[in-house]
Amino acid sequence: MRSLTSISFLLLAAPLGILGAPTTSSENAAIIPDKVVLEARAVVTPAPCVPQLDPPVSEQESAERFEKFARAFLETKNLTEAFEYIDATYINHNPFASANGPNAALDALGPYWDSVQITPLKRTFKGEYGWLNYRTNYFGEIVDRYRMEGGCIVEHWDQGEKYPSFGCKAKRG
Ligand SMILES: *[C@@H]1O[C@H](CO)[C@@H](O)[C@H](O)[C@H]1NC(C)=O
Repeated sequence: MRSLTSISFLLLAAPLGILGAPTTSSENAAIIPDKVVLEARAVVTPAPCVPQLDPPVSEQESAERFEKFARAFLETKNLTEAFEYIDATYINHNPFASANGPNAALDALGPYWDSVQITPLKRTFKGEYGWLNYRTNYFGEIVDRYRMEGGCIVEHWDQGEKYPSFGCKAKRG
């Protein structure tokens, strides 16, 4: 339960080659979940986000919730807080994800998220979609796209995503 048999990035665009590459530093071993038994993740798992469908959540409210998610995920790097916005049925479209759902994502991110250096670049929300653009020391520049439903994040894409042309506002909008 606390070891992973494959890399399952739910929120990161992680080229597998980077993680699977031979490593010389023991620090890096911590991010190769299929080669080491992970320590218990130091991340408290929150209760899953419960979508509010009636009355529906407005686009403005969704945008505000997405902003809170983004701050927790990228700035304060509090995964517990970030995952308060993740639905129990969360679908990850990353081909390297081993499973859907928030627990697989927390298992994948928890052991190393603190050590990733993140530079937030842009973010925006429109309709039911939110985009994050940020740079990391491990994986370069990333564009994540998320779909929200009832104020909860229910889907994520990070393969070949393009930051939308309407999303040119600054990261704090
Ligand atoms: C992280 O977020 C959780 C849930 O919002 C909160 O209880 C906890 O105190 C936060 N941790 C830190 C270090 O701020």
